[in-house]
Amino acid sequence: MRVCVLYRLCCQWLLVVMMLLIVEAAPVFGAETKGAASGQSNFEARCARCHGATGKGNGFQALALFFMFKMPDLTDLAYMQARSDDALFRSIKQGSKGGMPAYKLKLSEPEIKDLVVYIRSFTRTSSR
Ligand code: HEC
Repeated sequence: MRVCVLYRLCCQWLLVVMMLLIVEAAPVFGAETKGAASGQSNFEARCARCHGATGKGNGFQALALFFMFKMPDLTDLAYMQARSDDALFRSIKQGSKGGMPAYKLKLSEPEIKDLVVYIRSFTRTSSR
């Protein structure tokens, strides 16, 4: 009987995660009419729910994905030094198998570049 309850809880959790992923995959209508937004406002609007407003990886959606994906700490100097701007750009544009969604349809290349610059500012301010 107890196994059955656990099984149901598991199914419900999976359902919630799947719904979150589907919402994530839906195109954002009107996004292309907004004009060029700054790296910061884009980050707060699109990325903070997973990565956290400060890049620590503690956004509310990170909790739901906790069991599936490891959220990187974008304020970790060693991690960020090991990643080139190019690699960060590619991760944001194309996503990754590790759970990072692709933004090539939602953000223009200049917007993604602004985001890379903004993400870099986390380590510059937290390390020194
Ligand atoms: C659904 C949750 C989610 C959202 C939303 C999200 N990310 Fe991520 N992101 C992840 C996960 C999970 C990883 C770890 C991926 C991996 O290890 O392969 C990641 C990795 C990254 C990395 C590190 C990539 C690398 O190559 O080291 C960067 C930079 C990043 N995200 C930036 C962003 C930006 C910018 C946005 C908003 C445009 C964003 N993320 C939105 C979940 C998310």
